[in-house]
Parts: sequence; structure tokens; C-alpha cells
Amino acid sequence: MADEKVLENVTPVYDDEALAAEYLEKRQQKIEEDFKKPFDPDCILEVRHLRKCFPLKKTITGKVTKELVAVDDVSFKLKAGETLGIVGESGCGKTTTGRAVLKLHQPTAGQIIFNGQDITNFDSKQMRSSRKEMQIIFQDPYSSLPPRSTVGGILSEPVEVHNIVPKDQVKDYVLDLMDKCGLRDYYYERYPHEFSGGQRQRICIARALSVNPKLVICDEPVSALDVSIQAQIINLLKKLQREMNLAYVFISHDLSVVKFISDKIGVMYLGSMMEFGSKEDIFKNPLHPYTKALFSAVPNPDPTQKTERIKLEGDIPSPANPPKGCRFHTRCPYAKEVCKHITPEYREYEPGHFAACHLLNEE
Ligand SMILES: Nc1ncnc2c1ncn2[C@@H]1O[C@H](COP(=O)(O)OP(=O)(O)O)[C@@H](O)[C@H]1O
Ligand code: SF4
Ligand SMILES: [Mg+2]
Repeated sequence: MADEKVLENVTPVYDDEALAAEYLEKRQQKIEEDFKKPFDPDCILEVRHLRKCFPLKKTITGKVTKELVAVDDVSFKLKAGETLGIVGESGCGKTTTGRAVLKLHQPTAGQIIFNGQDITNFDSKQMRSSRKEMQIIFQDPYSSLPPRSTVGGILSEPVEVHNIVPKDQVKDYVLDLMDKCGLRDYYYERYPHEFSGGQRQRICIARALSVNPKLVICDEPVSALDVSIQAQIINLLKKLQREMNLAYVFISHDLSVVKFISDKIGVMYLGSMMEFGSKEDIFKNPLHPYTKALFSAVPNPDPTQKTERIKLEGDIPSPANPPKGCRFHTRCPYAKEVCKHITPEYREYEPGHFAACHLLNEE
């Protein structure tokens, strides 16, 4: 655990300071109880109450006087071979969550359990073996490949560094991997600039998979590609997932892409997880007004499936100065007085289906 006090310095949720203190203490107790729970042996990844703050202002002595809470109390679980889609508007903390899971950002608080180990406070030496098993694919396949290496060189390097196969078998291993990723063998001698965006993303996927990872964070991997190429890359990711039993955290702002690839879906808003559940739960029975609002923007081809439609008004508030209470209250058509003051608890409403909204506690 990075820091026991997950909720320290959180904007008080009540205007009344005594009530705020009582509320925070209760939530802190619940969080500490969760930290003590045994790890779920069925899961490759468990994230508990993750929090990541970035300093915005510091005094000359280095004391942080203002911070941006990019990820606030996010929890989820993922099994081997499964895909979790994380969806939400730009700036809601998707990338920060993905990077914190890989420890490319050190979490401010919370727990990250990967493959049965709490890696939250692992140092870089301890992370070495886990790092090989957790890979990332970025949105921009143009800038994430070294321009002066050939495809063969790019793909051989991690295989050699991590001793995946004996030295004399590296080339065959790489050619086989290229074949799996839809890359012709003569590309081996070519350079990244000779390829289109889709082909470069295939090279990035091959590089990530070259070390036999268990988990791949896919951060908007198709957002920069043409729609026709997007489908090819997503189908490739699905095929490789089946072949290698990979778990994916698939980050996207595009709900239709997330719907296609995911088994589970997490909906984020201003750093918090608003709803989390199986794809079926989220699409057939969305609980949170924000999830319903996201669906309003996507035409539903199935006329028999009726979901409540909500139009989002106004702009997303600044994460440096988020609304008190429910972070969504400034845009929620159902917001009541309580929503402005009290952050709703993230609760399980049916097995595996979580949401954070006061309305749900009234029914
Ligand atoms: N290194 C950083 N320093 C300061 N603020 C950051 C940093 N990285 C991200 N942020 C801020 O954190 C918030 C969440 O960002 P991000 O995780 O990139 O969102 P998303 O991927 O959902 O678009 C944004 O307000 C962003 O400006
Ligand atoms: S808690 Fe209130 S403001 Fe937040 S989503 Fe529910 S009804 Fe809307
Ligand atoms: Mg992002």
C-alpha cells in the first residue's frame, strides 16, 4: 500500500466540518478494511482505492500547496484472458490509471496487486520481473518506435534483454511473432517510417507481446487510426488474446470500440470510477446517470433495447478544481442538494456491478 491515508487532504464532502470528518473517517475505515482483504486468486490484476495526485503548486521549500487529483479512489479486478475497457471523456484519468497500474507513475495511495503480489511499493529492481509481464501499447504508433532501428532490431531487443529464447533462436522467434501479428517476414529489415499507421501499430503490438506478458495496457491504441484499420487492429488484439491468454486494460474514449472488445467496462468521470461491471450489465442495465448519458451519444441499432436517454449539458469541470460531493453533479439532470455535498459511495448493486450514485440508494 502506498499510503494508508487514501482520503487525506480530500476536499471535505460536507460543508459542516464535523460531519465531514465523521464521513471521511468512516470511508477511511472501509478502505483500510479493504486493504487487509486477501488477494483474489482468480485475478491477474486487482486495483484497490487507487489515488494519484500531481503537484500543481509548490513553495520554495518544496511543500505542495495545490495538487490535481487525476485518479481518485479507483478500484477494479481483472482475470487472466479478460479485457477491461475503461471509457470516459478526455482528462478523466484513464491514462493516469493505466500508467499507475504499470508503476510508470508511483501511486499516491492505494494498492496494486499483480499476479498475486502487492507491487505498490516495489522498487525498480523488484519491478524488473513484473515489468516484463506488464506491457503497454500507446495511442501514437509514430512516436513510440525508434526511427533508426529496423523492425527486426526493435523486436529482437526485448527478447534478448529478457532472455526469452536462446540467442541463436531469437530471429526465428521474432519472425514467428511477426507472422502472428500480420507482419510479412521481409519487413524484418525495414524501418518504421516505411510503414502506415496500422502497420506501425502492429509492430508496437508485436514488441509488447515479444516478452510473453500476462497483462497489456492498451492506451487508445486505435484512436489515431482510420476506422477501417481500427477494426483490423482490434481483431488482431482479440486473436492474440485468445492465443496467449492475455489480460487487457483497454482505454478508449470511444464507447463503441470498448463495447466490441471488452468483457468488463469501467466508466470514469473526473478521476473517479462512476460505474463498473460486465459488458452485459453496463449495456443492458446501466445504473449511473453518467453512463446513461454516454449512451445517449451513441445510436442504438437494436430497437427492442430501451435505455433511458440523458443529454449532457455544460463542460467537464477542471480536474484541478473538481466539484464537491458527487463530481458529476454540475452536469447531472437528477442532481439533488445531497449530491452537492456528499460523495456517493461506490457500491456493489448486483454481483460484480458497482456504481456511485445517491439515487441508487433510494430505490
Ligand atoms: N504528469 C502530469 N502532471 C500534471 N497533471 C497531469 C499529468 N498527467 C496527467 N495530468 C492531468 O491529470 C488529468 C487526467 O489525465 P489523463 O489520465 O491523461 O486523462 P485521460 O487519459 O482520461 O485523457 C488531466 O487533468 C491531466 O491534465
Ligand atoms: S449522485 Fe446525484 S449528481 Fe451524482 S450521478 Fe447520482 S443523482 Fe447525479
Ligand atoms: Mg489518455
